[in-house]
Amino acid sequence: MNAGFIGVGKYVPPHIVTNADLEKRMDTSDEWIRTMTGIEERHIADESINTSDMAYHAAMDAISDAGIQPEQLGLILVATVTPDRPFPTVAAMLQERLGAKNAAAMDISAACAGFMYGVVTAKQFIESGTYDYILVIGVEKLSKITNWEDRNTAVLFGDGAGAVVVSKVSEGRGILSFELGADGSGGKHLYQDEKLVMNGREVFKFAVRQMGESAESVIYKAGLQKEDVDFLIPHQANIRIMESSRIRLGLPIEKMSKTVHKYGNTSSASIPISLTDDLAEGRVKDDDVIVFVGFGGGLTWGALCIKW
Ligand code: ACO
Repeated sequence: MNAGFIGVGKYVPPHIVTNADLEKRMDTSDEWIRTMTGIEERHIADESINTSDMAYHAAMDAISDAGIQPEQLGLILVATVTPDRPFPTVAAMLQERLGAKNAAAMDISAACAGFMYGVVTAKQFIESGTYDYILVIGVEKLSKITNWEDRNTAVLFGDGAGAVVVSKVSEGRGILSFELGADGSGGKHLYQDEKLVMNGREVFKFAVRQMGESAESVIYKAGLQKEDVDFLIPHQANIRIMESSRIRLGLPIEKMSKTVHKYGNTSSASIPISLTDDLAEGRVKDDDVIVFVGFGGGLTWGALCIKW
């Protein structure tokens, strides 16, 4: 019995901040941001929208897409490094707001790879027969830990939420393989010390190497070859990092998810947000073999190979 996604959903806050808006606020340029990152605009949540609000809207979208009721959920996992507060968890707040009265709930902290960690955790509980339906959400309000005085980081991030419902799917489909990993020695390159601090160059080098290696690893673990892959959904951190994994897998440009231009880097939310858009816009189809790969602070990484 395989675990797979039976519903997807997303939410981004309405307010859009363009590169031109940032030019007015700091010493940067639309040209630099586009060329170095691929980002054109990002959605930023105002005071009235917290992390749990974004998570709630994405969750409702995914639950309705899955055609289930909140009471059927056995577990809610929320991957975030920007919870409303340290506790109660965003997952517990959602449990109440969704009316998911039969669900256990916890947050997962693995930075941008958090959604991958959440999905792999959900897979274990589904395949062991412990729970029938698990809600996994990646959500971040990075704007509240962004140092708006630091042009090296302030231009990169956006706010948003993406959600999936994980459940049993028919044989041969769903999650075929996964990889999770961590290297705590790289923690000094990306961390929160009140605000977010990053050594962009070191993170860049790590990401290019790790994304490629992990993507290849899950393909081989699934008993497949690169030629069998129909679509790649990489963490949307920087178009240059994403492109390096696409090229390593030998995929044409139209076979890679790209939403970084409109949402920026939304950390743990970027992969489920992209998946939701890719499905809605017809880029992901039935029977496709999809590779998901993410990396983040920790340093952490995770990848999945899924047959849709
Ligand atoms: N506007 C204009 N100039 C800028 C800006 C900016 N916003 N930011 C930096 N610069 C300048 C620098 O000051 C530097 O100028 P100098 O040469 O005069 O000193 C120059 O541009 C080059 O800066 P670098 O930081 O060396 O440029 P780099 O090629 O490393 O690109 C970038 C920077 C885009 C941040 C890149 O390092 C990167 O994408 N790293 C990975 C970041 C990432 O993915 N982080 C998140 C991962 S985990 C998570 O999602 C939370």
